[in-house]
Amino acid sequence: MSSRSTFALVTGAARGIGKAIAIKLAADGYHVLINYRSNDAEAEKTIAQIVENGGVASLLKFNVSDREEVTRVLGGWLEQHPDSVIEVLINNAGIRNDNLLMWMEPADWDGVIDTNLTGMYNVTKTLINQMLLNRYGRIVNIVSLSGLKGVAGQMNYSAAKAGVIGATKALAQEVGKRGITVNAVAPGYIKTDMTQDINEKEAKVMIPANRFGEPEEVAELVSFLASRKASYITAEVISINGGLYS
Ligand code: NAI
Repeated sequence: MSSRSTFALVTGAARGIGKAIAIKLAADGYHVLINYRSNDAEAEKTIAQIVENGGVASLLKFNVSDREEVTRVLGGWLEQHPDSVIEVLINNAGIRNDNLLMWMEPADWDGVIDTNLTGMYNVTKTLINQMLLNRYGRIVNIVSLSGLKGVAGQMNYSAAKAGVIGATKALAQEVGKRGITVNAVAPGYIKTDMTQDINEKEAKVMIPANRFGEPEEVAELVSFLASRKASYITAEVISINGGLYS
């Protein structure tokens, strides 16, 4: 259990996996900062659910891919809360925009890289100094099976997630001595808006567990990696995919 003055920031937390992680970290005792880009109503619903469970959360609206906005909103929050510590960062915000390379427009490439990879840089860069000074931190980056295996039609997304995996391993080496762990979690098919266009009945035949995963199952793993119990696990990529790929 952490005290209520220690914060956990979850990006893209208004729905899906990010929402489940925010709810779980609030149950673990963190004051959760719910980052979201645009959907005020969904973000309010996430807060309401956390409060209903007896937790504490606040909204922090910014677009992770907009460096100026991240600096202004998240950097501004740090300045306004000099006695607060964000000790857990979950880089979850992500988009996919699939197409075979022959049809992939520059904007499809840029958008996916900017959100998934550069967004992680923008947010982590803003928070790392405080974590280093605090000599404690937990960073968990949500990547994907696509970043490990490569998936046809997802050259942009596979590259972005593989980039985050490289960044995870590099940053872990930079900050390990200061008590900060940096890990990545690589989900397979999880039931969220992102996978609603995929037919589970057809796709599940490839999955040993014979089903898609639930966001709450990913949240359990993230909660562990974000806890003090996971103090000697760093620079790792942990798959959570029902046995689909190992
Ligand atoms: P989702 O689409 O339901 O949620 C993604 C969230 O990120 C949304 O709330 C969205 O508004 C937010 N977001 C997107 N761009 C943003 C930006 N620029 N700034 C701030 N927030 C932004 O998708 P889901 O499934 O919950 O995905 C969460 C993470 O898990 C993503 O990084 C995704 O790539 C990853 N993932 C999901 C898998 C799945 O099967 N659902 C499989 C593997 C990885």
